[in-house]
Amino acid sequence: MSRRKIIIAIDGYSSCGKSTLAKELAVKLGYNYIDSGAMYRAITLYFLRNSVDFSDHSKVLDALANINLSFVFNEHRGASDIYLNDENAEPYIRDMIVSEKVSQVAAIKEVRSFAVAQQKRMGRKKGIVMDGRDIGTAVFPDAELKLFMTAAPEVRVVRRFKELYETNPEITIDEVRHNLELRDYIDSTREESPLHQAADAVVLDNSGLTREEQLEFVMRLVDKNLSPALSEGEGGVA
Ligand code: DC
Repeated sequence: MSRRKIIIAIDGYSSCGKSTLAKELAVKLGYNYIDSGAMYRAITLYFLRNSVDFSDHSKVLDALANINLSFVFNEHRGASDIYLNDENAEPYIRDMIVSEKVSQVAAIKEVRSFAVAQQKRMGRKKGIVMDGRDIGTAVFPDAELKLFMTAAPEVRVVRRFKELYETNPEITIDEVRHNLELRDYIDSTREESPLHQAADAVVLDNSGLTREEQLEFVMRLVDKNLSPALSEGEGGVA
């Protein structure tokens, strides 16, 4: 019997391990995984390459009219790569130069409307795991399962540093810490859909959890959601 499909929305601060969890969940459930941050990063890459003055709203709108974003599954990575106008942008979107500007770009109203409209379309058939900052609050307010992920700040800094060090051994831990602090601040204080926990989201602090423990915790929530009758009286999953 094929199971009903749901939408899983995962929000949280930068480098909380959202994408790792989202990817694993999608594989386990046979769902699509969409990294919504990759969309804001690809838009930022376009703006930087084309010297778009993003303080000028009409220039932003003109630029957005020339941007086409799509996701293509990459078997090697086990996740989708983002394409910016037919170019695989995945190798460039996590560069520090993009990370330094992406929160400013993601705070622009026109940019958000552009990205959110596409994200909503991607969820029409359900069977999707999407991570970001406003997925449970603005993109899929009716998502069947919402998670809000957190981890201790220094745990996040070290995780991001290790990730970036692989491709950029010049990077320092202070640079990474500064970038994360700044992005957290901009993402949670901006006017347009700031990062905040949806009232019906389950909080997941993974500072002390292994990947396996984290996945197990969330899979219990998924199972409970998909077969509520079976898990009644189980006593909760936290
Ligand atoms: O998840 P990430 O670090 O790759 O996201 C990059 C930036 O995009 C982040 O600083 C905030 C922004 N973002 C957002 O505003 N809304 C989303 N749904 C996803 C990301």
